[in-house]
Amino acid sequence: MLKTHTCGELRAEHIGQEVTLAGWLNRRRDHGGLIFIDLRDRFGITQVTVNSDEAPEAHQVASQARSEYVLQVRGVVRRRPEGFENPQLATGEIEVIAQEVTILNPAKTPPFLIGGEAVNVDESLRLKYRYLDLRRPHMTRNMVLRHEIVRLIREYFYARDFLEIETPILLKSTPEGARDFIVPSRLHPGKFYALPQSPQQIKQLLMVAGMERYFQLARCFRDEDLRADRQPEFTQLDLEMSFVEPGDIRALIEALMIQISETVSPKPIRQVPFPVLTYQEAMERFGTDRPDLRFGLELFDVSDAVQESQFGVFRNAVAGGGQVKGVLYPGGASLSRREIDELTELVKPYGAKGLAWIGLKEGAGSDGHYGAEALRSPIAKFLSQEELAAIVQRSGAQPGDLILLVADRPDVVAASLGNLRLAIGRRAGLVDENSLAFCWIVDFPLLEYDEEEGRWQAVHHPFTAAVDEDWDLLETAPERVRAKAYDIVLNGWEIGGGSIRIHRSDQQMRLFQRLGLSEAEVEEKFGHMLEAFQYGAPPHGGIALGLARMVAIYAETPTIRDVMAFPKTAAGTDLMLGSPSPVSEEQLRELHIAVRVGDDEAERSAEKAAKAEG
Ligand code: AMO
Ligand code: AMP
Repeated sequence: MLKTHTCGELRAEHIGQEVTLAGWLNRRRDHGGLIFIDLRDRFGITQVTVNSDEAPEAHQVASQARSEYVLQVRGVVRRRPEGFENPQLATGEIEVIAQEVTILNPAKTPPFLIGGEAVNVDESLRLKYRYLDLRRPHMTRNMVLRHEIVRLIREYFYARDFLEIETPILLKSTPEGARDFIVPSRLHPGKFYALPQSPQQIKQLLMVAGMERYFQLARCFRDEDLRADRQPEFTQLDLEMSFVEPGDIRALIEALMIQISETVSPKPIRQVPFPVLTYQEAMERFGTDRPDLRFGLELFDVSDAVQESQFGVFRNAVAGGGQVKGVLYPGGASLSRREIDELTELVKPYGAKGLAWIGLKEGAGSDGHYGAEALRSPIAKFLSQEELAAIVQRSGAQPGDLILLVADRPDVVAASLGNLRLAIGRRAGLVDENSLAFCWIVDFPLLEYDEEEGRWQAVHHPFTAAVDEDWDLLETAPERVRAKAYDIVLNGWEIGGGSIRIHRSDQQMRLFQRLGLSEAEVEEKFGHMLEAFQYGAPPHGGIALGLARMVAIYAETPTIRDVMAFPKTAAGTDLMLGSPSPVSEEQLRELHIAVRVGDDEAERSAEKAAKAEG
């Protein structure tokens, strides 16, 4: 080794020892005869002191070194002079007095500051120079954290008799929700492999194969529109077990998440066992199937109280099968008109046509009366005393609070108020950032109606089993069939989802028919599954957790890109390698591929991509 110790290792007990360190020049302070170098490696920073009297040659070399030069330093560990200790630094008690400094490699001036906790570096610059970005201590920490979590996961499943099995990356295109990435075959002209959106079918076939307990850190590929919590290529902790029920998978994952949380995070878990909410309950109380339970502010329903209201917006919404629901803004009665208008703008993207509001002034509701002088509201004048009393009572509002209401279709009400609740939680400082709030969401609907395609579709995937007693509703009331599915949610992020699967061929066929697939289509796309199920498929189920989402929460970063070594941009490009990129005519010919895009189209899509990257 070119070093005897790391830059994070030396302590008082090493004083007097001769050591050799190697790393990058983090910072240099030149005081003429004395040069201080902060030498950095993955493990930390050590101060090196170079004295022109004691080591003139070393001093000469050190005076040439610049930021990010790769240096090797031989010297002696010494206690720092009194008053010069640095308690911020693990090695802050000591310094290394250099005898010899060697430049192993000089460096160009980096495009952004690497030492220190510089923020606000343009992300496209960071991605282009990802190898420099990863040198920044907080990014290095993210990589270490991810590694720690991966290690815990592996040890956890090894200890429980799970087999780690690799599944193919060159797979077959089957509809599973998102668009496939496809790979042309040279040996089979006109035919394609697809990259796995998840190893779903293969892991089920492993259960038919009798493996009983499988897990993998599986690469998945989905050609979908990207967001902060989505990447085209990502890693799942993927697992499948035979002879299990939903509670078995939940208990297994719950214990894993507790172990990970306790090991890598100082934050306490709010509730153990994790609360289990039905999909319906989550939608009613929080307007979303991934509620952030770090704060309360549950939605309330006043539909029945205003169904005969004079206020047409409310009356008509209920008459048309809709709802009138609300959320409280504690202390919000004093918001400015502009701030309230901002809240209205917040719900519009979710389809709400407006946001009704009632602010309670001092004295509102005393002796059960809601006089105009005690309310601040554009709609109170249309509401009766009984209606006002019901709204205030169900909202739990006190004087000083603001009540916000939306009247619309249930899905619009849920999306609008669910997101409004999050915004209020943040603005009013109600979110307890120092806690981990897990929950399970269960009893999802099995199917949803796709208006565009005019047919029923699987909410999760078409291999998910229905709750036993609901199978009879499949043909008559498909919207009421519940799935044996479960999602795990952490601080408002869906970090994983899974289900108990169908393991009988006849049931699987029945579901495919309900989804409107012809027998020929089923045979072509899923024939292998139906056949496998006829050779003694055990009851089985599993789950997959998004590794990056999980790590991002523990790393306290809002984007999963920060916990992936080499992520793609929001437009799906790699700025460092410059991919995707054209391939040679020769390669295309070998693959039997003719490219259809003209120069115009290529240019337009490049512009679109550049725009998405912002
Ligand atoms: P699902 O599609 O719900 O289930 O995915 C499971 C988890 O994977 C993560 N995830 C993603 N992470 C980053 N970028 C993406 N584009 C992305 N898409 C999904 C999420 C999600 O909760 N085969 C089933 C699992 C099963 O039934 O066992 C599946 O893939 O955290
Ligand atoms: P309007 O009668 O359209 O002037 O609306 C009166 C008030 O009701 C305004 O504050 C609107 O923002 C609000 N409003 C309108 N439509 C809705 C709706 N669907 N849900 C809740 N409030 C609404």
